[in-house]
Amino acid sequence: KEYRRQRQMCIRDRKTKAFETKDALDLYKKIIYTEGKAGRRMDKKQIEEMIDLAIRQLDYSYAPYSHFHVGAALLAKNGNVYGGCNIENAGYTPSNCAERTAFFKAVSEGVLEFDAICVVGGMNKELKEYAAPCGVCRQVMMEFCDPEEFQIILATGKEQYEIFTLKELLPLGFGPNNLKLDR
Ligand code: THU
Repeated sequence: KEYRRQRQMCIRDRKTKAFETKDALDLYKKIIYTEGKAGRRMDKKQIEEMIDLAIRQLDYSYAPYSHFHVGAALLAKNGNVYGGCNIENAGYTPSNCAERTAFFKAVSEGVLEFDAICVVGGMNKELKEYAAPCGVCRQVMMEFCDPEEFQIILATGKEQYEIFTLKELLPLGFGPNNLKLDR
């Protein structure tokens, strides 16, 4: 209960940046460092499930040229989770990133609203660093997601992850709103 109270205080203080107690400040720092500036809008279990699914997608990653394998798990607002992997090509340019594979699977089935994506990846499937989405994938996210709300979970394992909003990874992004298009 005390933790909940402190956490509430933290969420409020995130806006005012005033901390009533040292505990609240420490908790705020912990949230910022472990969950990213975006804060956490999903519970830990859900985040872990997405990390798990993204890691399992590495089995399907087709990357015989770069050997850089990427897996993604995309959470739609309707609760569906779409897996994705990178799919390379001898012609190089036809290659597709894991994130776009997941998005295109969903959109091709009529699902257009999303809450979050988890991305993992590394050379020879070794997850040593975060695999941040490339610029093209960020732009695809911009097409279907609210940049202030959409959560991008970068992970190297279930215990090591950071969460960013799309806006943090694509500031001043250009999207459907700029063309006054109502999605
Ligand atoms: N790749 C992804 O699938 N997602 C990313 O976020 C970064 C890069 C893929 C594309 C290519 O198959 C390989 O990683 C190396 O660039």
